[in-house]
Amino acid sequence: MTLPPAASLHDPAESVYNRWRQLNQWLSAHQTLWRPAPFTDPRPAWTVPYRDLAHDIEGLSDSDCEFYDDHPDQLAERLSGLLPSLGERQSLVALPAMTDQQETVAASTLPETRATDMPGRKRLQAGAFAAAVKPLTGPVLDWCCGKGHLARTLAAQCSVPVTGLEWDDALVMDGNRLARRFNDDVTLHRQDVMALDVAVPEGVHGVALHACGDLHRRLIRKATGGNAARVSFSPCCYHLTATTDYRPLSARVNGNREVLALNRSELRLAVQETVTAPARVRAETAWVSGWRLGFDGLQRALRGEDDYLPVPSHPARLAGEDFETFCRWAADKKGLTLPAGIDFHYWQSVGERRFSQVRRHELVRHLFRRPLELWLVLDYTLYLEEQGYEVRLGTFCDRQLTPRNILIDAVRGGGEPLLRQ
Ligand SMILES: C[S@@+](CC[C@H](N)C(=O)[O-])C[C@H]1O[C@@H](n2cnc3c(N)ncnc32)[C@H](O)[C@@H]1O
Repeated sequence: MTLPPAASLHDPAESVYNRWRQLNQWLSAHQTLWRPAPFTDPRPAWTVPYRDLAHDIEGLSDSDCEFYDDHPDQLAERLSGLLPSLGERQSLVALPAMTDQQETVAASTLPETRATDMPGRKRLQAGAFAAAVKPLTGPVLDWCCGKGHLARTLAAQCSVPVTGLEWDDALVMDGNRLARRFNDDVTLHRQDVMALDVAVPEGVHGVALHACGDLHRRLIRKATGGNAARVSFSPCCYHLTATTDYRPLSARVNGNREVLALNRSELRLAVQETVTAPARVRAETAWVSGWRLGFDGLQRALRGEDDYLPVPSHPARLAGEDFETFCRWAADKKGLTLPAGIDFHYWQSVGERRFSQVRRHELVRHLFRRPLELWLVLDYTLYLEEQGYEVRLGTFCDRQLTPRNILIDAVRGGGEPLLRQ
């Protein structure tokens, strides 16, 4: 399969819809590689038709795996020797950086002395977001604002009032206390943004930093429905949604007969990245995943059924125990009786071997995380265009600061909406 290379979104000759169509086609053409989850499926079907590819990644060392998981562009390049269409990935996911001046970002970031209660990464993310959306002209509404870290960062940049909506009372109280202490023109209100009566008033600039799934989609709809002057947001956790299957927002996407169907667990793939996780967390995830896979092998043998049995999230204390304790807890959760004489060492080593293989197969699946994310973001962009907004799309910070680094910045245009829904 060969597609024409995707042009930069800066290129006025390329429409957002073209990019979306290219991604849709490319993702559809490769769906056998990303739909099956290797964790639940020990022998993903693609390993048969793509035997060379499977052989190549199964031969990677642990340190190669770590490197390629953090550098999917380079993995795609390596594997394009075996499957040339993977070479198109890089141009399909390319996005412009929305700020290229380090000084602008530094000047837009709250100094540490004013960043009380603000985790270091959050302070830098809010500063980078502010730098990308400057200058601000109208009143700002921070959607799902938490303690108002973005709200306070934006208020320090401009002389417009910033209000915030957040449903957690304690965060609202803390945020208002911080705003008063530092004399910021910021007021947070306790509000469930999913409530029927919530509104984004006309002329307001709605912003959101990492509002999850339905929360950011609610902002898009409320902002366009209320004639907001501008809406700028960095989406995350696309899979946190009340619906089982993804419902595209854009009329053009919905009208395309080849549109991908995505369920909630496939949406989750778009955000499965550990690039900012500390080494200790990665190591713990690895050994507990090995235990889960060991238990999976054991339960298949005990039940005589070659099917994955979903085990709920475990309490944190279990990670400090051992494999046998984990299996007893998991068996109890699933109503399974463990007979006497189980060779737990054997099943633990089965789990370790499976983990090593799953990790390699997942590398291939992970190549599709960013393309899926961009597919979703382009749907949002198209919807905003259809509602009469001019949209800038790009990254507001490096992915080491947060892998959720896409910013959609939509300004209401002068004309009528193209397609009001
Ligand atoms: C991932 S946090 C982001 C917080 C903030 N924007 C930031 O970057 O620090 C999402 C926030 O949404 C809030 N939230 C979740 N559901 C909400 C709802 N239905 N209405 C209002 N806020 C909600 C949570 O309490 C949380 O503070």
